[in-house]
Amino acid sequence: MEGSILFLPGDGIGPEVLFEARRVLEALGGIFGHRFEVIEAPIGDGAIKSCGDSLPPETRALAVDVDAVLLGAVGLDVRSADGGDVDAAGGLLDLRQLLGNHANIRPVAVPEALVARSPLRPDRVRGVDLVVVRELLGGIYFGQPRGIEDGVAFDTEIYTEEEIRRISVSAFELARTRRRKVTSIDKANVLESSIFWRRIAEEVSRDYPDIAFSSMLVDNCAMQLIHNPRQFDVLLTSNMFGDILSDEAAVLVGSLGMLPSASVGGDIGLYEPVHGAAPDIAGRGIANPIGAILSVAMMLELAFALPEEADAVRAAVNRVLGDGYRTADLRDDGGRTPVSTARMGELIVAALDKVGASGWAGTAGAAGGPRRRAC
Ligand code: NAD
Ligand code: IPM
Ligand code: MN
Repeated sequence: MEGSILFLPGDGIGPEVLFEARRVLEALGGIFGHRFEVIEAPIGDGAIKSCGDSLPPETRALAVDVDAVLLGAVGLDVRSADGGDVDAAGGLLDLRQLLGNHANIRPVAVPEALVARSPLRPDRVRGVDLVVVRELLGGIYFGQPRGIEDGVAFDTEIYTEEEIRRISVSAFELARTRRRKVTSIDKANVLESSIFWRRIAEEVSRDYPDIAFSSMLVDNCAMQLIHNPRQFDVLLTSNMFGDILSDEAAVLVGSLGMLPSASVGGDIGLYEPVHGAAPDIAGRGIANPIGAILSVAMMLELAFALPEEADAVRAAVNRVLGDGYRTADLRDDGGRTPVSTARMGELIVAALDKVGASGWAGTAGAAGGPRRRAC
């Protein structure tokens, strides 16, 4: 098959991890006989510097004209309290709105090879396989009014019935393909918006009698994720609660660098690792590219309906981890010397080749080098 993908490397470690993701995609194209056209465009701080806009018009136009968008990370500077500073995160929020992807799917599965890496006891994390279904276009991220006036700062958590209903449906539909359990997260003991969230999620649950449903307060959920994470299958969350809980859940796997995500619901999906630009390690070649590479797997499955190819990528990642290779963030005390970002990418490509050689694959075709667009 043929497909077009917009690569948005972004800032910090974004370009480093996306480079490895592209190598994996190219290798996969060669093995399975698919041709992916890769187009690169600016977003984030880099785009502010080069184009004066964190989501330049050229990038916007391309994003709605491809089959899928793959993003690295944005943001090296956080916006200052008076709003006057650069606003790289705004480019990503604008992109999500542009694509209309209301459901952010964040799977958290602990590979057997990393069970010992987790700071939690192996018996707590072995077999953890949950997914955060995070509402992505509403809530306090976008609610009006917001601002700083006369010594008062304010944001607004706001959810319409329709927004809660559609993300709930996404969670229940996903649960039907998994272990059939949805836990909706809220703060209904305090917040009106959460009382409403709970009511609508419960209403939707009645359309899914085959799914075990319950609601849980977010503070308890934060504790249960560490105490007994295997109880969870699908976590249904608001925008902000899902953002926070998914970073926490990354600890179960051993590193934030491991988690992929897919943002879906519109015509074109946005695929990105859960982590950010990681300014503390950027430019050193030590970032873990696996979250980005597993985001490619989600893209292959959801944007291109290529589940076998997606499984091949996941199998290659598991094989490399099973062989004991680790980037620095995953290293066990006393383990072998960590591998670089580039070496991890190479190892995963080599593992894919073994998959191809064992007979899954076609022969021809590969992604060409990326076409780069400036503003
Ligand atoms: P971060 O996710 O960038 O980093 C948090 C910690 O995790 C850091 O110690 C970092 O070194 C580590 N880490 C993250 N990804 C890693 C990887 N692939 N390999 C190894 N270690 C990794 O969060 P932050 O430091 O709070 O934010 C930095 C900037 O990134 C901010 O501007 C923030 O807005 C932005 N951000 C962007 C995204 C995104 O683009 N999707 C997501 C989160 C944060
Ligand atoms: C994420 C990030 C973003 C978010 C920021 C960069 C806007 O933290 O994707 O998890 O909060 O959604
Ligand atoms: Mn986040």
